[in-house]
Amino acid sequence: MIQIKNIGLIGFGVVGEGVYHVIHQTPGLQVCIKKIGVKQAHKNRNAPENLFTTDLKTIIDDPEIDTVVELIDDADAAFEIVRQSITRGKNVVTANKKMLAFHLTELIMLQRKHKVSLLYEAAVCGSIPILRNLEEYYNNDLLQSISGIVNGSTNFILTAMCDRQIPYAEALLAAQQAGFAESDPALDVEGFDAQNKLTLLLKHTFGLHVKPAQIFRKGITGISGEDINYAREKGLSVKLLAKAFFSKQQKIVAYVLPQFIQPHSQLSHVHNEYNGILIGSMLADEQFLYGKGAGRYPTASAVLSDISALNYGYRYEYKKSDNQTGPELETDYNISVYVSWKGEARIDKSLFTHISAVFSGDSGHYLTGVISLANLQLISSSANVSVIEMPAVQKSQKSLVPLIPERKEVAVLY
Ligand code: HSE
Repeated sequence: MIQIKNIGLIGFGVVGEGVYHVIHQTPGLQVCIKKIGVKQAHKNRNAPENLFTTDLKTIIDDPEIDTVVELIDDADAAFEIVRQSITRGKNVVTANKKMLAFHLTELIMLQRKHKVSLLYEAAVCGSIPILRNLEEYYNNDLLQSISGIVNGSTNFILTAMCDRQIPYAEALLAAQQAGFAESDPALDVEGFDAQNKLTLLLKHTFGLHVKPAQIFRKGITGISGEDINYAREKGLSVKLLAKAFFSKQQKIVAYVLPQFIQPHSQLSHVHNEYNGILIGSMLADEQFLYGKGAGRYPTASAVLSDISALNYGYRYEYKKSDNQTGPELETDYNISVYVSWKGEARIDKSLFTHISAVFSGDSGHYLTGVISLANLQLISSSANVSVIEMPAVQKSQKSLVPLIPERKEVAVLY
């Protein structure tokens, strides 16, 4: 048993303060928070003032501090803190998904070189223990897919829009006030946060290392009341999903995109800031993990679990990445989508492989069809365009025929 003793906590925001209180309510852990690094001195805080310092070097250079818990939201500053802490032989626990997604390779090398642990369960799906499960329980090559709701703020917003007809801007404000959203909420609503989390999931699920920008991403900012009505008329809900699965060519397809969800899907029961992850395994078939994905104490619970795992020297081993002939990222793939747009925006229909229906009305336009991810990139970058993936086809249904009947009275067959 390697007993960790002194923690340097960096960041005292929503999650940092939660971790501080949770550690004090877990006496069995027997760790001491020796110092707390913050940006602003002399703020009224719910902890003794002598713990706080704005001089982070006094934490990083303190030989008595064996573990740094980094919980700030500036990814560049976080990287420097984590890099220097590891270099000085300290374990690090962090929740900074953006920093990790951009610097994981370098950080893995550093933690190996300095023989310390870098743990980040809180960085993906908040309280859901997904990373350690992928590392330990699913420590084999039989995983086929991973998909789910990995961002609490967008799920909170879409739940409010779908279930309570609350307008987008009002729902976003409520997510910010509840402390779920990033300080720059564009990271949530444009899908960057989900893209960063999917980057980490790809590493732990398949041993695949990609840069976040290699993953196709479209967020929820374009989703209008008309799109929500379209879903409601058909008994569907809309969720922002992060997905990765094997293509027929045995490459990995990965993207972040809103999707229509059928009522029988496990994901349809994931509301508000909750997250839900479906794991597709060759032997066990489908498994589902569910829990709070954002918020002070759910996120603090994952940080606490990492701190406690340090006591038995736990370290991610990244065994799936050791295989030199691991899977590659599929650079293109056809998916079935609903695309809607308003006013003057033009959609180049020739980019679609197949179009099922086109609708034009006073309130806007939409079409449904099949398009490659590369072509979808070309039409989806405009803020006025909304893209929602059609519902997942049941395993037994192999045709590309949409599951949803189109509105016959208005749909123009192409
Ligand atoms: N902004 C993030 C979310 C916080 O809403 O999921 C948790 O990672």
